[in-house]
Amino acid sequence: MTMAPGARGGADALASGLDELQTPSAEALSDLLVAWQRVQGRHDLPWQGTRDPYRVWLSEVMLQQTQVATVLGYFPRFLERFPDVRALAEAELDEVLGLWSGLGYYSRARNLHRCARQVVERHGGVFPSSAAGLVELPGIGPSTAAAIAAFCQGERVSILDGNVKRVLSRVLGFPGDLSEARHERQLHRLAQDLLPSAASQMPAYTQGLMDLGATVCLPRQPRCEACPWSARCLGLSQGRAQDYPLRTRKLKRKSQQDWCLWLVDPQRDAVWLQQRPARGIWSGLWCWPLFSDEAACQAASAAVQPGTQLRSLPGFLHVLTHRDWTLHPRRLSLSGPVPDHDLERVLGAGRWWTRAEWSKLGLPAPVRRELTAA
Ligand code: ADE
Repeated sequence: MTMAPGARGGADALASGLDELQTPSAEALSDLLVAWQRVQGRHDLPWQGTRDPYRVWLSEVMLQQTQVATVLGYFPRFLERFPDVRALAEAELDEVLGLWSGLGYYSRARNLHRCARQVVERHGGVFPSSAAGLVELPGIGPSTAAAIAAFCQGERVSILDGNVKRVLSRVLGFPGDLSEARHERQLHRLAQDLLPSAASQMPAYTQGLMDLGATVCLPRQPRCEACPWSARCLGLSQGRAQDYPLRTRKLKRKSQQDWCLWLVDPQRDAVWLQQRPARGIWSGLWCWPLFSDEAACQAASAAVQPGTQLRSLPGFLHVLTHRDWTLHPRRLSLSGPVPDHDLERVLGAGRWWTRAEWSKLGLPAPVRRELTAA
């Protein structure tokens, strides 16, 4: 029987979904996807055509939450500086953060560095070969572990990132609400059942899922006419592919405002920056001292140099996953020397960086943009 998976619909399909997907339809889906990927999929990305776990891992971490077009610029630069896991493990974190600057989500860079050190120290410089081993390492979640194991070893383990959840929930007409963990687990089991039986097909199948999600099964306007699964897609046959995945709970966005004391020493063309705490937004990166209200920012400025006017610069919005963050820079140009320990007493730990120095530092992208434009 080649009925589309889940064609009986609703909870019924879910209850029996695992059995149903053992039918030839699951095999047909994987065959179709593998054949499509070989002809229509992407083959020229710089991290393809290798089974080197270091390269695959690096690319997968960069591609978490970041577009392919952006990663294309970073991946070769990173590899040139750190050609293997040992080179990365030996580097200072600040240099890694500097090279990562602009890619965002800096906890990825810190975990990348920690992971490289663990691979060297605990695994003799060789990445674990299974997804189960990989997922124990810092910064490698289940989907990234699955991608590395599938690409490098042909392990039969399914990726399930946001794009893949969309693709699979559409083709299966998956009725579960993905804001509930149990439904996500259910979808993951179904994803496992759809895998090709041959290990040799796992790289093309995994890449095919990624390619479908990125180029065909788009969030708002799926290009169903170009999809190898369209004849078997339950979402499409219901005429509502774009309604999947179903989610009842919407993410509540928060907004936050902060004032930045942008302290400059015009004599040396230097700026006072402090390293952000290890936890939270921009952790470990260098930033202006931040204040949660304008009065506090002004008070700090008056304590550093009484009687000097703060200059207000236009605020800017920085959009984070769960938050809209507005930052208001306030610039204070020192008219005479202030000892570092006086600054630290008022502002907390920090230091002066000249332009030549800060340009090589790990800075949040908007901070770099503002400093560069000044
Ligand atoms: N997104 C996540 N992993 C990817 C890969 N290997 N190729 C293209 N896009 C991706």
